[in-house]
Amino acid sequence: MGIPIIPLITLCLLVGLAIYRYIVYPAFLSPLSKIPNAHSSAPFSQAWILWYRSREEETPIVHAAHQKLGPIVRLSPNNISVNSVEGGIRTIYAGGYEKGGWYSNVFCNYGIMPAFAMSDHGPHSKRRRLLSNVYAKSTLQTSQSMTAISKILLDERLVPRLEEMSRKSEPSEFYYLFAAIAMDFVSAYIFGLENSANLVQRPDLHKKFFRDYKARQRFQFWPQELPKFTAFLGNIGVKWLVVPKWVDKANADIEAWIMSMCDGAEATLNEAARDHEKARPENYPTVYAQLRNGLLKENVKSDLDLPTEQLVQQQRFTIASEMLDHTLAGFDTSSITLTFFAWELSRPENRQWQDKLREELASLNDKHDAKAVDALPILHATLMETLRLHAAIPGNQPRITPAAATLGAPGHEISDLPPGVRVQAQAWSLHRDPSVFPQPEDWRPDRWLDATEAQHKEMTRWFWAFGSGGRMCVGSNLAMYDMKAIITAIWSSNRTEVAYDLGMMHRGGYVAEPVGKDGKYLMLNVQ
Ligand code: HEM
Repeated sequence: MGIPIIPLITLCLLVGLAIYRYIVYPAFLSPLSKIPNAHSSAPFSQAWILWYRSREEETPIVHAAHQKLGPIVRLSPNNISVNSVEGGIRTIYAGGYEKGGWYSNVFCNYGIMPAFAMSDHGPHSKRRRLLSNVYAKSTLQTSQSMTAISKILLDERLVPRLEEMSRKSEPSEFYYLFAAIAMDFVSAYIFGLENSANLVQRPDLHKKFFRDYKARQRFQFWPQELPKFTAFLGNIGVKWLVVPKWVDKANADIEAWIMSMCDGAEATLNEAARDHEKARPENYPTVYAQLRNGLLKENVKSDLDLPTEQLVQQQRFTIASEMLDHTLAGFDTSSITLTFFAWELSRPENRQWQDKLREELASLNDKHDAKAVDALPILHATLMETLRLHAAIPGNQPRITPAAATLGAPGHEISDLPPGVRVQAQAWSLHRDPSVFPQPEDWRPDRWLDATEAQHKEMTRWFWAFGSGGRMCVGSNLAMYDMKAIITAIWSSNRTEVAYDLGMMHRGGYVAEPVGKDGKYLMLNVQ
């Protein structure tokens, strides 16, 4: 029998090509080969980084790689992480690199992309322009609606709850409390108080929502990182192997709940249009109305004949998708930050900061004067330091390189990167550069109070709790507003001390809530 020459040559060629494509090129010839590898397998495989991502341990492992290897590291054949302002976040995020599929794979509600998940620049910036005004600091600080919401949520709901805690003199769980009040704040501003979540007063709903929301978060890895594989499992009817069926139900319940808030907001607007006298400032659905009216204006141009009701109906899911995203983005991040704030402030070693803050809050003439609260230096410094050390989104925020990109801090530049490389930075590492934040692991509010102008400028350049560029957090002013208001309400009349904090370590994923232990997170005594 003769040797089958042609098939043999074909086979050798294919093997040769595969060796070149998957070993020689990525390890020795690609521009990415000049970047230090976070792990020896990084040029050939994603397995190493996917393992840590699947366990929500990416942030610390990438941070360790930066500490060992410098400001630019390769995580897998087509994925790099940078840790610098110049040649890093300034180039990628302020430079408008696109988002790619990582966001749209999971942050798609009712089958419609909110701005956060839109991969392309054009539609995103159009939506963002429509909304950013309602989140501007000046809008928030002068909003009658926000002032009214704030008074009711704090004086009539939170303060009585704190008084009850103090009377009972038993430790209370604060992550739950912060989740409830942050959700009430953000949903009241978006949908109006009468349509908002009101979790502080509805413990059963709070429990269910918290469980559903965590389910949504915990099972994002498969559809986000391995979308094709997860879709394949779905097609053959076994997606439950990686995402349990009850997670879909939890998601559906959240969507239904947010839709009911949107419908409530629509009814409130219609009622207010019919009877101005009855309209109360706290019930005005500020964000909902802004998007609804903005989209209506756009649609009216194309559908001249349709009545408003029908136009609103047409855009019902588009609005709900955006509002769901803002509600969820707003509540958990603020509650995580507040939980770590309360923890730091209530630890025995930080007792002097609690005293200083209480003294500062006692000097306020009006606790509901948002401008005066915003201007308090100790409140601001303690919160900034918490956002630095305990960023609620400290993990990777991936973007995609355009053609011929150059990345890397001065002296570490890698040029001619191909298009389509996943690049990322993480607040965790930017906030721990010792040349900018000396003793970076220590919670030291004085670094913000005592900094020279130049030091302050440098710290601000590296501060990345809200991201940067066109995709930076649109709700950062609302977050600062509600967190400062909640802190003021708590510590102007109470002292707190830690009763239980064994679970107060951050998760190592995109969002970094406390890991918790024995079903508890942060238990505080309130006096
Ligand atoms: C302490 C509180 C908060 C933190 C630390 C935070 C952090 C962030 C970060 C880092 C991003 C960029 C994420 C990325 O590109 O992967 C982001 C985006 C976003 N945040 Fe926040 N956020 C907070 C509060 C809020 C609030 C209160 C809202 C309410 C509206 C909100 C709404 C959004 C939205 C809609 C985006 C997407 C913006 C866009 O793509 O244009 N966030 N946030």
